[in-house]
Amino acid sequence: METTKLRDVPIPVSRVGLGTWAMGGFQWGGTDDDRSVRTIHAAIDRGITLIDTAPAYGFGHSEEVVGRAIAEKGNRDRVVIATKVGLERYGDGLYRNSTREQIAIEIEDSLRRLKTDYIDLYQVHWPDPRTPYEETAKALLDLQRAGKIRAIGVSNYSTEAMEAFGDVATLSTAQPPLNLFERESQEEILPWCRKHDVGTLTYGALCRGLLSGAIDENRKFEGDDLRKVDPKFQPPRFAQYLEAVRVLQAYARGRYQKSVLALAVRWVLDQPGVSVALWGAREEHELDPVEEIMGWKLDPAGLKSIDVIIANSVTDPVGSEFMAPPEHAPTEQPSVQA
Ligand SMILES: NC(=O)c1ccc[n+]([C@@H]2O[C@H](COP(=O)([O-])OP(=O)(O)OC[C@H]3O[C@@H](n4cnc5c(N)ncnc54)[C@H](OP(=O)(O)O)[C@@H]3O)[C@@H](O)[C@H]2O)c1
Repeated sequence: METTKLRDVPIPVSRVGLGTWAMGGFQWGGTDDDRSVRTIHAAIDRGITLIDTAPAYGFGHSEEVVGRAIAEKGNRDRVVIATKVGLERYGDGLYRNSTREQIAIEIEDSLRRLKTDYIDLYQVHWPDPRTPYEETAKALLDLQRAGKIRAIGVSNYSTEAMEAFGDVATLSTAQPPLNLFERESQEEILPWCRKHDVGTLTYGALCRGLLSGAIDENRKFEGDDLRKVDPKFQPPRFAQYLEAVRVLQAYARGRYQKSVLALAVRWVLDQPGVSVALWGAREEHELDPVEEIMGWKLDPAGLKSIDVIIANSVTDPVGSEFMAPPEHAPTEQPSVQA
């Protein structure tokens, strides 16, 4: 397993991190806790030391499962728990709230659910335009000084927001989306992070399963699975993305003797500025390709061919904007800044 170092995180972290959004159940068509715990144990056994979760994933359920898995494994000091803060529940939805008061409530809930007395990496989940970034940063700095969190991160922040935040608290990481089909973070976020020596946990390495190679046009998504509304999974675009995956699969096999999944995760790891690629496995066997991803690199000709394949297949691309949560609760009047 390749490892890297994140500022203020004492132990090395694996360059593949386990994402546990789907283990929360909500927006992923339900979940099975025993299966999730086995998956987390399998990840740790394979050398994955960073586990990313959030109170928003199943309204606390993902954190509970992560807490249970680590407690049962008995290796808290060898696992880096990365969780988040700043999305408040509103009925069956979530909206952004990064005020000091909200953070004071959420930290205690997260520590309890995770069965721990410190969080290794505490990340603001989405920028809250109604709360000054300095207020949020100061609240996290106070938690760091109190020993409740070790390192501070942000997610989905612009470079301007990170500048303002970084004036008050030292940022260890940013968490933007990045995969073969969603590359917007390469324009400003990743270069800014490199320049300021801020680590990155990039999310969605498989583009919500599209790049696993296991999804075809007959796949049905059940219950509240967000892929029912994800614009990449709707016709006519779905067929374009599936065609790109089909051609990439053949290319990966022919040129590198690898699966398209390995190609996709390797591509993320090889991008300048990427510290850790988050991979949202929810079954033990889904982690089988971990070894296939380590120990090689994509060459310039390969990178170019991949870009040509995607450009030829996906003629009507769309980004990941649909995932952004609302800035305020539905019945509230937006403030002037919102
Ligand atoms: N900060 C943020 O705003 C944010 C946003 C999104 C994600 N994240 C983080 O990033 C993590 C990863 O992102 P993600 O969960 O969206 O997506 P992802 O890693 O791109 O895809 C996850 C999905 O891919 C499928 N999959 C994984 N391994 C597979 C395998 N070997 N074979 C076949 N299918 C496989 C599974 O879907 P099925 O089994 O259902 O097919 C899984 O749920 C999240 O869990 C979360 O920790 C953060």
